[in-house]
Amino acid sequence: MKTISIDKEKCVHCGLCVSDCVSGCISFDDENFPKMDDENRCIACQHCFSICPTGALSFNNKNPDESQDVNYDDILSLIKSRRSVRQYKDEEISKELMDKLKNMLPFIPTGCNSHSLHFSIVETKSAMDIIRNKVNDLIIKTMSYKALSPIMNKFSRYKDAFLNGEDVIFRGAPHMIVVSSPLTAPCATVDPIIALSYIELYAQHLGLGTCWCGFAQICLKFYPEICEMLEIPSGYKPVYVMLLGVPKVQYKRTPQPENYKISEIKEIKEKDACIFCRIKRLVTNFLR
Ligand SMILES: Cc1cc2nc3c(=O)[nH]c(=O)nc-3n(C[C@H](O)[C@H](O)[C@H](O)COP(=O)(O)O)c2cc1C
Repeated sequence: MKTISIDKEKCVHCGLCVSDCVSGCISFDDENFPKMDDENRCIACQHCFSICPTGALSFNNKNPDESQDVNYDDILSLIKSRRSVRQYKDEEISKELMDKLKNMLPFIPTGCNSHSLHFSIVETKSAMDIIRNKVNDLIIKTMSYKALSPIMNKFSRYKDAFLNGEDVIFRGAPHMIVVSSPLTAPCATVDPIIALSYIELYAQHLGLGTCWCGFAQICLKFYPEICEMLEIPSGYKPVYVMLLGVPKVQYKRTPQPENYKISEIKEIKEKDACIFCRIKRLVTNFLR
């Protein structure tokens, strides 16, 4: 269950929880307090909880006072404070910060130290706008293919927002980084993800905003003309995309995510896997 509750004494009706909700599932009630419209759409990211300037909003009864203040300096606080930023200022990041990010790249580890990544960094707003417009044109063309309508219907919320002129793919970001690797690299699909994880944390430490962008990654798969624009070398696969810019929003507190399942292995109980379990694991591992 996903719920929000509002301390009416503390709420200042600023609407930050509404505007920063990626799923668009919070709106104002008749008394102008935030309310959850559709918990099925909520992805439990707790952006509403983190962004509330007064700690008036509780997500799933979590107490805002039990969160830490956002802090991008020491490494553990940075990890806890990191958020996906989907609202950016309409400005480019400074050359100084861009250089700092670029100078960090050679230190990113790669499998077998292959060191063969390719970074496409869209450094200007004008270049980003050309890509944004091209992708939008291609998506509109794709939407007109009747055969694809069952797939498009799955993304109907995004489709409607897109048709309303919202930048649902690039979130208005002024920059984007695409990391590609040669298909022959020993860890071709893992290295770019490691790289972007380093970039994300360092960028947020520098006061920048980032957002992993699966939607853009799908576009790169389907629209090779965008790969050309991004100067991705032939034989390289664009593995993932990250948006980058100066954040327009400030988060106030860390989220309180649920724990993962952890097997705390202190001693090994040797056990033969039955033939069905073996096959199941082999198939699962192969499919990944
Ligand atoms: C692999 C990956 C792909 C993602 N793709 C998108 C995307 O296309 N658009 C978007 O707005 N957010 C995207 N996100 C952000 C997630 O929605 C976000 O991480 C999640 O809601 C938790 O919020 P947080 O990152 O602020 O903690 C992506 C995140 C990951 C890790």
